[in-house]
Amino acid sequence: MKKAFFLSAVSLFLLGERTIAQDTKNAVITINANEKVGDISPMFYGLMTEEINYSYDGGLYAELIRNRAFKDNATKLDHWSLVQKGNAVGNMALDSIEQKGTALTRNLRLEITSADANNKVGISNDGFWGIPIRKNKIYTASFYAKTDAQFKGPLLVSLESADGKIVYDSAVVSNVAGDWKKYSVTLGTKEGIDTTSDGRFVITAKNKGTVWFSLVSLFPPTYNNRDNGNRKDIMKLLADMKPGFLRFPGGNYLQSKKIETRFDWKQTLGDISQRPTHDNNSWGYHSSDGMGIMEFLGWCEDLKMEPLLAVFDGLLLSHRSAMSLDSLKPYVQDALDEIEFVNGDASTKWGAVRIKLGHPKPYNVKYVEIGNEDFFDRVGKTWDARFTMFYDAIKAKYPNLQVISSNHVTTRTPDYEDIHDYFSFKKALKLAHKFDGYKRNDAKVFEGEWACREGVPTTNMLGALGDAAFLTGMERNADIVKMSCYAPLFVNVNPKGMQWKSDLIGYNNITSYGSPSYYLQKTFSENLGDQSVKSSIENVPMAADTTEQLFYSVTKDSKTGTLFLKVVNVSDTIQLTTININSDKKILSEGKEIVLTSDKVTDTNSITDPTKVVPVSGIAKGLGKHFTYSFKPHSVTVLRIGAK
Ligand code: AHR
Repeated sequence: MKKAFFLSAVSLFLLGERTIAQDTKNAVITINANEKVGDISPMFYGLMTEEINYSYDGGLYAELIRNRAFKDNATKLDHWSLVQKGNAVGNMALDSIEQKGTALTRNLRLEITSADANNKVGISNDGFWGIPIRKNKIYTASFYAKTDAQFKGPLLVSLESADGKIVYDSAVVSNVAGDWKKYSVTLGTKEGIDTTSDGRFVITAKNKGTVWFSLVSLFPPTYNNRDNGNRKDIMKLLADMKPGFLRFPGGNYLQSKKIETRFDWKQTLGDISQRPTHDNNSWGYHSSDGMGIMEFLGWCEDLKMEPLLAVFDGLLLSHRSAMSLDSLKPYVQDALDEIEFVNGDASTKWGAVRIKLGHPKPYNVKYVEIGNEDFFDRVGKTWDARFTMFYDAIKAKYPNLQVISSNHVTTRTPDYEDIHDYFSFKKALKLAHKFDGYKRNDAKVFEGEWACREGVPTTNMLGALGDAAFLTGMERNADIVKMSCYAPLFVNVNPKGMQWKSDLIGYNNITSYGSPSYYLQKTFSENLGDQSVKSSIENVPMAADTTEQLFYSVTKDSKTGTLFLKVVNVSDTIQLTTININSDKKILSEGKEIVLTSDKVTDTNSITDPTKVVPVSGIAKGLGKHFTYSFKPHSVTVLRIGAK
């Protein structure tokens, strides 16, 4: 690749949409449209997810009650408050009355010493940074309750403003008495109300005595009306990306710091009352495990994504050391059980469990990853041996499964190797060439986590430019890079919601938005085709510090012949570029241009300005086998070039 020092575009003039070059030092991109470099996998663009930044609890998982099982804090009732209306008197405390037949071990004890119809005692939950109240919605509330011999009577369940002055709706649960029982009600909000993010959920009583509560839950309508389902707005953002796969459940969340707090899939099955919950000490908060293995797989079904299931392989985050090989055997079996659970039929032990839980059809998982980031196995250094144990056991039982390694391995050749790259904008410009000279006779490449970390909490335009440069490198090398997914996917933008900066999609409890990086990836995946084609660039403009300023990739739809030229101009000047296309087809003079840019590279999207930086589409004129195009400063441009 020839490189020329950057020349500002002084000697050019614009002719409508078409730009004619006067300067012979333009960058020149040559496209050999008939020469395929590789097939692009339909799974090239996917999603990666884990419980980080309140991704599920307080995020995608639609549950609105925070600390619903009273397990978030071993000594305090976080997010719960005592409500004493008028002259009522009572108190509440954390308790652990046994609840047979469930995995619930903690409960809230409410003692009502003085109350009547006008002076009620109760409890309220403030949700994940408030309970969101939207107009014209039906909410489903449920809880388990047990009473002492004294308490008999109704409970009033309501949705209220934070100060209790507005009651949006309430419902009476009559005859609450005796041993543990589940109670459910629906609450509806009216058309005329103002949307608010800081409502509260309240249960009050007007009679004296003691009531214990456990697993208090509140759901708004969910995507595809799934029980225990997902938030509609965030699912819509994801659906719009048309992702090819979902890598889950982590990430560090798979591993954790202690063996007891890894993602233990068997503890995430069935009704939520059967899930003990666990401490997400990877990211510092408790996990409700409402997002269990079947919910991940339901999410895949909803968005028609291939599941890419990561299994725990013995590497913990604590000191990054791995378990000994002897103690690993039960975990190898656990991974086999997990695969049997997702794919087995009724004749298998775990397949039968799945069927009993309501999913008769196997999920047909084809991709299984062994562990996460095993390049951190620096103490025990057992990676090769551990991978071999898992790989051999899985391939012996499931020879058709595609097995992914989470680190380079020497003892076996995995089907894919998962590589992670987090980088600054500056580093992105180097990494754009990472795969150009990459080994081509090894495992296929899976970029299982990558991101240009510019912007907080979600990325800004600079981040999107870095992402785009890196992505052009992956697209150009689609013969070896088969799958890619950005991380982290989500962030709750409320104070203390974020553990990892520069995320793809941000939200509070009411609304969500995509970052510039989100729109960039959506645009790239919508304009991909199925082949990468041979291409080259000359006279690459360079900055004074010798970093390249122009990046590109060319892919093609083999059925229609349409070419997708992506050009990333990271400089602050227009880049006039000559495009030469060698093709046995006629190149249409009119195509489509999609441009992502913004006045400042620090520009970003947010809750209050969700679409400040979005792609703009227009007609591209003056295309042909030889044409010039001016690429805006700090921009990502996709040209759809038709052929006949
Ligand atoms: O994406 C955040 C974290 O980065 C992931 O949990 C981990 O795999 C990586 O180190």
